[in-house]
Amino acid sequence: MKPITLDKVELRHGARVIVSGLSAAFAPGSLTALVGSNGSGKTTLLRAIAGLHPLAGGRIDRGGLMPADIALLAQGSHLDRSFPITCRDVVALAATRLGPFRSIGKDRLAATRAALARVGLAEMESRPIQALSAGQFQRVLFARTMVQDASLILLDEPFTAVDTATTRLLLSVIADWHAQGRTVIAVLHDLELVRHHFPHTLMLTRQAALWDSLPDAGLQAA
Ligand SMILES: Nc1ncnc2c1ncn2[C@@H]1O[C@H](COP(=O)(O)OP(=O)(O)OP(=O)(O)O)[C@@H](O)[C@H]1O
Ligand SMILES: [Mg+2]
Repeated sequence: MKPITLDKVELRHGARVIVSGLSAAFAPGSLTALVGSNGSGKTTLLRAIAGLHPLAGGRIDRGGLMPADIALLAQGSHLDRSFPITCRDVVALAATRLGPFRSIGKDRLAATRAALARVGLAEMESRPIQALSAGQFQRVLFARTMVQDASLILLDEPFTAVDTATTRLLLSVIADWHAQGRTVIAVLHDLELVRHHFPHTLMLTRQAALWDSLPDAGLQAA
């Protein structure tokens, strides 16, 4: 696996420049927090890394990753939950491909059930997603991300509207991904949590991006 590198990336919405001159590198298997104030361009940057937002300048080298190797868990408030679908189907529909991390012999339903069990939702597989709390829905999205089996995982504010116990559970899932050698980039606002659990930080500011490594941080696999 090769690093993901951003070289003088510029992002715009219409004529408005949101991010400019951003250069950074994400090593394979690295765990990075993307921080910055509201409107600083974190979501836009994550979408650009996923290939879902066009570059106005510069380039992104995804190290040979294909779109199917990249999982993006969108910001909760940007998701539509009105579609009548069960937790099981939301997860199972993401488990449709063979990827580098797929364990052999697991069928799609078994992988779906294992993922729902990992996030504590084994009993809720038949429940429609409209009937979930915000925290339960976020756990479903983590289970979905799990079965996507991607080598690059992008999480946009994964702990918003999530209580402490669920945050701890989802952090342990992120730790699993990290231990499995996947590259993870997560948009976060809780700097205390970032300091304790994320070895690298990329901060978006109006002026420039600050790129930092925090040597005392480390995330233990659950
Ligand atoms: N679809 C859009 N059309 C026009 N402007 C947009 C669009 N989406 C976002 N923007 C603007 O681009 C800027 C960056 O937005 P973005 O959502 O990337 O920020 P963010 O850092 O994720 O913010 P937050 O912390 O609130 O999620 C903001 O000023 C926003 O108003
Ligand atoms: Mg955002």
